[in-house]
Amino acid sequence: MRIGSVSYEAPFLLAPLAGVSDSPFRQLAREQGAALVYTEMVSADGLARGQRATFDYCRFDPAERPIGIQLFGSDPGVMAEATRVLCDLPAEQRPDLIDVNMGCPVRKVVNRCAGAALLNDVPRIREIVRRMAEVSMVPVTAKIRLGWDGNSRNVVEVSRALEDSGAQAVAIHARTRAEKFEGTAHWEMIGEAKRAVGIPVIGNGDVRSEEDALRMLEQTGCDGVMLGRAAFGDPWVFRRVRAFHERGERLPLPSAGERLAAGLRHLALMVRDVGREAAAREMRKHVAWYVKGLPRSAAMRDQVNKTHSVEEMEELLRGYLAELLTWGEPARDEGGPPDSGAGREGLVAAG
Ligand SMILES: Cc1cc2nc3c(=O)[nH]c(=O)nc-3n(C[C@H](O)[C@H](O)[C@H](O)COP(=O)(O)O)c2cc1C
Repeated sequence: MRIGSVSYEAPFLLAPLAGVSDSPFRQLAREQGAALVYTEMVSADGLARGQRATFDYCRFDPAERPIGIQLFGSDPGVMAEATRVLCDLPAEQRPDLIDVNMGCPVRKVVNRCAGAALLNDVPRIREIVRRMAEVSMVPVTAKIRLGWDGNSRNVVEVSRALEDSGAQAVAIHARTRAEKFEGTAHWEMIGEAKRAVGIPVIGNGDVRSEEDALRMLEQTGCDGVMLGRAAFGDPWVFRRVRAFHERGERLPLPSAGERLAAGLRHLALMVRDVGREAAAREMRKHVAWYVKGLPRSAAMRDQVNKTHSVEEMEELLRGYLAELLTWGEPARDEGGPPDSGAGREGLVAAG
């Protein structure tokens, strides 16, 4: 599978997820078979102005490659400048792809004509992508929605405009901006876009299981499937999807031991990445997702939210694991894999 000059080994990708697809999580997802990962959306303006905090969002470990950095912004000149800044980084810090966010529905972003608001301005989309592609050493891609609302579902027109302007792939979250994360994704529109363009089309929206992933590939003819919420606390979803796709094999869900070990490892990587104080804060949501569905997980979540240090969090996770092991390590007792439910609070900030 290829996007321009970038090849990846399987059609299953980790979505850009603000506040979730941090570098440690991307590493875990790659280890479990995600073939391509993305940073969360990063401000093009911040990069163009050389803001240090913005560059922090662009850091990644070599093990994460291939990786896309996703930019948000609306000014073609600023988007091109941010692209140039990323391409001027030393080779080991340069991403494999640069993606443009054209799907974020939140007011703060769309009020500045960025994110999903770009879907209302196809000439601007053309200008942004053309200018980025002109200066970029790596493929430029875009992640879009079906349109602004039910009366303006212009996904086919936008996909064509992206291709004409030099984008080398398009990922489609099959909802309009008005739909945010509600209802069911309209996969048939991914198929329509696929038939209209020659660049790779990546489908996205509501893929939660092995069956969903294969159904999306078959029903839409898309070239890749991007998973977001299904991977919260469950990077193994990529391993399961790939085993089912490659061999028709259905792998078991991760055990409690695997999940808590992953939580501890995620925490250790996070400490290395952002330091102890920020790690303790950032990891609360991830730990809540890792324990979701395990016995007494609601109480465990409450306790995690009251921790103030990495040590406390580690101790809590180790104690919980010991407790579960004495019970014979049940895999899950409260239903299926973690799903969007755990991430509701994230939806308000989502793309
Ligand atoms: C917490 C959260 C953060 C998100 N952040 C981004 C983002 O930074 N950029 C983006 O293009 N999409 C973002 N999205 C949208 C997802 O990439 C994806 O399109 C959406 O969740 C639908 O896919 P899913 O059903 O597999 O979750 C976010 C979604 C969530 C839930």
